[in-house]
Amino acid sequence: MSEISVLGIFVADISFSGSKIPAIGETILGTKYNIGPGGKGCNQAIAVARLGGKVSFISKIGKDNYGELALNTLKKDNISTTNIIQDENSQTGVAGILVDQNSGKNAINVITGAPSSLTTKELDNHIDTIKKSKIFLTQLEVPKEVTLHCLKAAKENNCLTILNPAPASEIKGFFDYIDFFTPNETEAEFYTGIKITNEKEAKVASEKLLGMGIKKIVITLGEKGLFYSDGKEDIYLKANSVKVTDTTGAGDAFNGGLAYSLSQNKPIKECLEFANKVAGASTTKQGAGNAMPFLKDLS
Ligand code: RIB
Repeated sequence: MSEISVLGIFVADISFSGSKIPAIGETILGTKYNIGPGGKGCNQAIAVARLGGKVSFISKIGKDNYGELALNTLKKDNISTTNIIQDENSQTGVAGILVDQNSGKNAINVITGAPSSLTTKELDNHIDTIKKSKIFLTQLEVPKEVTLHCLKAAKENNCLTILNPAPASEIKGFFDYIDFFTPNETEAEFYTGIKITNEKEAKVASEKLLGMGIKKIVITLGEKGLFYSDGKEDIYLKANSVKVTDTTGAGDAFNGGLAYSLSQNKPIKECLEFANKVAGASTTKQGAGNAMPFLKDLS
């Protein structure tokens, strides 16, 4: 049984790099494109696996070419496909990603496809995987009732839960079931109404989130690093200095790194430093799933 279970989506990321992210109504001549594995859940599962963690990925895909890409991707990274529901009546999803090659920043539109019809009943065939794991990691790309159902099952079975609230959306009733909440600055603003540009504002936002009942907050701040608080201890870390190619999936690398490090029972500061390093390393390569670093890539 895996130490870490991840619920989320697989999609094929179709990514276009160019001198900028085009404005509305504008056409630019891009420089390269890439089709590869993506979806926050799958990226996070790959990150855990490449770091050496025992991970189960729970998802739903179609029986089509991108569904094949999903299965091949998981096999290549030694992630079991036992918890992948394949539905011949659904399509595997895709994400359209525009990358600014100078900053590595991106804009994403994701069509989740098959997982959009995922039900709690289907999920219940795989719930034991979650219940028996030490850590349950998920995001907000599958239907919310399924996510909440799994968070509850995880907490009832004493798993440590991590919710990466991406993309940000209303999550009434979730807060009591979250141990670690890992928004980026934009997502943290969505939940708190506080615009975060520095450490001080991140602290104010995290106090508000702690007040909602979440136990530990990690606000990732992109090139500014991260802010952590559990109400007693605050930790601010600067981002690792790397040559950025593409930031797609950096948050996923961070969450995978955090889950892996927590599963090793490391002190929180060490876990955050490690996850920060994993996130930084992921930005040096193009793509999302394929850019997740191996343990040996972290110097
Ligand atoms: O976090 C990056 C991911 O978000 C991409 O791989 C894309 O598929 C979307 O799910």
